[in-house]
Amino acid sequence: MKTQAPHSSPDSPPEGGWFPIAIRLSGTRVLLVGGGDIAVNKGRLLLDHGARIDVLAEKLHPVVQDWVDHGRVRHVGGRADEGMLRSLLPGCRLVYAATDSRDTNRQVAALADELNIPVCAVDDPGPSSFITPAQVRRGMVRVAVSTGGAAPVLARRLREQIEILLPEGTGRLAAYMQSRRPLVSGRYPQVQDRKRIWEDFLDGSGAEAARSGDESRADARLEALLAGDRKPGEVWLVGAGPGDPDLLTLKALHLMQNADSVLYDNLVSPALLDMVRRDAELVFVGKQRDRHALPQDEINREMVRRAQAGERVLRLKGGDPFIFGRGGEEIEALVEAGVAFRLVPGISAANGCAAYSGIPLTHRDCAQACLFVTGHAKADGVLDLPWDDMADRRQTVVIYMGISTLPQLAAGLLGKGLPSDWPVAIVERGTQPRQRVFTGTLTSIAQQAAEAQVKSPALVIVGQVVRHRVISP
Ligand SMILES: C[S@@+](CC[C@H](N)C(=O)[O-])C[C@H]1O[C@@H](n2cnc3c(N)ncnc32)[C@H](O)[C@@H]1O
Repeated sequence: MKTQAPHSSPDSPPEGGWFPIAIRLSGTRVLLVGGGDIAVNKGRLLLDHGARIDVLAEKLHPVVQDWVDHGRVRHVGGRADEGMLRSLLPGCRLVYAATDSRDTNRQVAALADELNIPVCAVDDPGPSSFITPAQVRRGMVRVAVSTGGAAPVLARRLREQIEILLPEGTGRLAAYMQSRRPLVSGRYPQVQDRKRIWEDFLDGSGAEAARSGDESRADARLEALLAGDRKPGEVWLVGAGPGDPDLLTLKALHLMQNADSVLYDNLVSPALLDMVRRDAELVFVGKQRDRHALPQDEINREMVRRAQAGERVLRLKGGDPFIFGRGGEEIEALVEAGVAFRLVPGISAANGCAAYSGIPLTHRDCAQACLFVTGHAKADGVLDLPWDDMADRRQTVVIYMGISTLPQLAAGLLGKGLPSDWPVAIVERGTQPRQRVFTGTLTSIAQQAAEAQVKSPALVIVGQVVRHRVISP
């Protein structure tokens, strides 16, 4: 018996890397050499795929023994010696060498290789002619991740990330599309036409209906496409959170990767824009104090115009669209124009800044409520705020857009009777790499902000909770 498979050295990947294929195992014979923990893992995978498993092992793990007792696998022998292997290998579709002895696994691999039977020596890619990738499964949809055996732990991590990205219902969507293929090919014999119809279907509301199991709604959309209906445009109003891309919701990420155009403002950081589909058109409609790139009604018109031309328009907004984000005005304009929209909430600056600076927004001992206000002054410079409510000591007041009016805000609260040492914090560029946090009092904070040249975006947090600030050791 040779001890080394000829196709590669034991420690290097095969030349050209590993070629991924999907193989039918249902009803075929697979030899599993070994009966311990590793064999249990491989056995489960093989049983899931309908293989007929022959186990060659001296000792059987209780799980394997149970499979044998219930006739799910056959126990065909004990020692993996050459004679036994030569009698068992012919006719096998695959072989797993899954004992806890590397030498034995390599011997099995060498012999299987000599007989041209694909073999995997578990955790030992060198003598293997195939390896088993990590899998993400959604019904009939399978995504396989392989690092060519170089870093299995990394492959498992990548698999976890893909698990998160693949919406639940992807399997249902695949099954739906499979069942409607005859209908579509019956009506459109040309491959190109069918491809376009399926692409439009996947981009629109039909796919979401199929994912959620609503086949009649999916059928209605598919029928409309088959009848020559153009895919209708829509607007997705999405909260991008306060800046850290990891704070995006899964839904936001999904839509960012499917949009035709993205209308974004200055609160959306470059790191977030990097996650938008590469060929989407990026349109800056930035809104900054005293620097309006586009007035609000022009933004509304632009969204409507693009959606009516069939685009999937992503209106990406910092934080949450419904908190000082004019999301309400934008959807009113869409409703008026009869444009379909979807709304996705985002983590607002208050939540992001509080968490990333270690300041709780409520606290059983001192803050039973939390009030969000805007420090943005009207055109005449007046701050139109609920001063009496804001001066309630049993709450936290979070002030958005309050940096340029900070002296007025502090004076207003002091004027309403809050003590001069009442705690205040400022979180600048919260959740972002250059976040800065300042803590002080109503008397000191305006000067601290001026000296440190605090710039927008920055959030002001007023109340006793600031004293409960904790920083991870
Ligand atoms: C027009 S409001 C938009 C708020 C946004 N819709 C939200 O839910 O966070 C802009 C203000 O939000 C606050 N803000 C937004 N992102 C911030 C961040 N990363 N750090 C600190 N403050 C932020 C600032 O007060 C900024 O002036």
